[in-house]
Amino acid sequence: MNSLTLNGKNISFEPGQTILEAARTHGVDIPTLCHLQAADHKGVCRICVVEVQGADRLLPACATPAGDGMVVDTHSSKVVQERKMLLELLVANGDHNCLFCEANGDCKLQALVYEYGVKNVARRAGYEQRPIDDATPMILRDFNKCVLCGRCVAACNDVQVNNAIPYPFGRREDKPPVTGWLPVADYDRCVHCGECVQACPVGALLEKKALGKAMTWQTQKVRTTCPYCGVGCQMWLHVKDNQVVKVTGVEDVLPNRGRLCVKGRFGYDFVHAPDRLTTPLIKENGAFREAGWDEALGLVASRFSEIKAAHGPQSLAGFTSARATNEENYLMQKLVRTGFGTNNIDHCARL
Ligand code: SF4
Ligand code: SF4
Ligand code: FES
Repeated sequence: MNSLTLNGKNISFEPGQTILEAARTHGVDIPTLCHLQAADHKGVCRICVVEVQGADRLLPACATPAGDGMVVDTHSSKVVQERKMLLELLVANGDHNCLFCEANGDCKLQALVYEYGVKNVARRAGYEQRPIDDATPMILRDFNKCVLCGRCVAACNDVQVNNAIPYPFGRREDKPPVTGWLPVADYDRCVHCGECVQACPVGALLEKKALGKAMTWQTQKVRTTCPYCGVGCQMWLHVKDNQVVKVTGVEDVLPNRGRLCVKGRFGYDFVHAPDRLTTPLIKENGAFREAGWDEALGLVASRFSEIKAAHGPQSLAGFTSARATNEENYLMQKLVRTGFGTNNIDHCARL
């Protein structure tokens, strides 16, 4: 079995694991900013550096394979000093006024600055305000808050494979492109899935629909299944005062591992639509009137019974839907098979 010494404790690890993965397996926290597991994106920000005995420099834990017999310190004074310096550089190279930021309370940079005691960093001399990209209805890009981690690029190109945020963006050792290092999206390719927004660790990418609706700590997260198709993507509803203000994908669970499409992430207005049907309607003399559930269900059951009595079970059929849950589909076929007495049950793929 492979093992290494982590902060003075002997731990085992699987061959192929990085120092970060080995540490996390054993509950040891190493901060990350750029690392995006789903895209194997790593090694850009260096906030995850650790001290490895015998190495001539600090090594990024997300990009360094764990080695048998290694002696690793995740929070030595050298490491803490380096992380603090990196954080100071990031703050100095942006416009990070949390008072006016939507990501306040949900920002990795803010949390790390607090944790590492970074104080009173002045903006870098000569800092030029970067562009704010307001070109699409769904996503606001404020590059003054961008920490150039490249997670949005990896999320778009390697996770969703939409290739809408063009390379070359990423590692600083490459030659900078003409537009600088800003991850500007190509909206002819963008499908507005919002994967880049979910991947952004700071307030540089924001859902426009959520702007001004709630501070992070005012919302409750309610887990649910996306209502749009049969895949069953897992999502968090961010709810304030019984209103959905934002939707995000649930990370690390199947089937979507945090990913959502444009409908699942942004198409939730129907939940609170004022003209949404919430009461059964019965048509009489060519016009609908509101009815109670007992009356409506009683009417439907009696009409089905009449049809069955007059024409037999084969005169009835059921159509169910991919937009219902497995459980609802199961109940529907049960009703048709045992209640109607027929196997005329089918499923409409998307409607
Ligand atoms: S919304 Fe989706 S397609 Fe558009 S840039 Fe972001 S990740 Fe790429
Ligand atoms: S926009 Fe966000 S995810 Fe993209 S590089 Fe900047 S900080 Fe990273
Ligand atoms: S998290 Fe490891 S280099 Fe960014």
